[in-house]
Amino acid sequence: MFRGLSVYTGNAHPEFANDVAEALGQPLGRADVFKFPNDEIFVQIKENAREHDVFVIQTLAGPGTSDHIMELLIMLDAFRRASAGRITAVMPYFAYGQSDKKDQPRVPITARLLADLVGGAGADRFLTMDLHQGQVQGFFSIPGDELSAFLLLVGYFEEEFAGRDDAVVVVPDLGFAKKGRNFAEKLRLPTAFVEKRRRGNTGQTEVVDIVGDIGYRRAIVIDDLINTGGTVLNTIQALQEGGVQDISVACVHPLLTGEAAANICDSGIRELVITDTVPLRSSEHRDKIRVLSVAPLFAETIRRIHEGESVGALFTSPTVQLQLRVR
Ligand code: R5P
Repeated sequence: MFRGLSVYTGNAHPEFANDVAEALGQPLGRADVFKFPNDEIFVQIKENAREHDVFVIQTLAGPGTSDHIMELLIMLDAFRRASAGRITAVMPYFAYGQSDKKDQPRVPITARLLADLVGGAGADRFLTMDLHQGQVQGFFSIPGDELSAFLLLVGYFEEEFAGRDDAVVVVPDLGFAKKGRNFAEKLRLPTAFVEKRRRGNTGQTEVVDIVGDIGYRRAIVIDDLINTGGTVLNTIQALQEGGVQDISVACVHPLLTGEAAANICDSGIRELVITDTVPLRSSEHRDKIRVLSVAPLFAETIRRIHEGESVGALFTSPTVQLQLRVR
């Protein structure tokens, strides 16, 4: 049907794109993607893309989120005009997922706007991982797949935690309650939920209440993303005040802006477990940070999409090997 499988990347996270290409067993396609002195982005695809099944890998995280979004849109347009057979926008982290409803007067729904832009620029499909809310899938008018890193995270904690009677899973944000409970069920652990209050639009939060028992020696705090780290740090403090001695923190998308990584690693936790959907900014505290690579999962999914095989099978029995990098 297509003349071949091609994988390209912008400048958001080339290391991840290289890992995906390596797992697929083929090099990344060549493309120029850079900025002119006037701040405008230039793209040129350096290989024939006519009738190819093209995957453009670009995580939508910062620093430079807006540039990365723009690079992706321009690359999609370039491939459409180069007569690619099918174009898939591969966005390991989809930005603006938290802007998914009009919950204040006169605010936009930016996740919807971004989904429209991706489709409008030329993507025939999208591929992403752990959207902030599952319903964001419906903002796209093109078909797509949402992968999840949770089986890999379960796999990481399984040996040490599964079924233990001295540990609890703590969910620091009620928006993540369902996924957090599923994660705990897979590890056969109880769950506690933190009710937090946001201070306006400052990004700052405070713990209002903890629903559930935290009278355990050990805890895994898990969320879909960590941004400033405020939510997780408040939770860590509440757990430590409650007598929990051994705390592991995990998330899928480590945005870790500002001093988040340092503050979390210095808070007395055992470890911070993340994936590589977003490049790790800090080179410090690597002794406490464990990076689980989801690149093989993306590679296997790309292969299946290209071959027309089931992607759903990956959700129940991951056949791709868990790759753990300790940095
Ligand atoms: C909330 O909706 C998310 O699940 C996270 O809890 C939150 O966005 C984390 O942000 P921060 O690290 O800045 O507290």
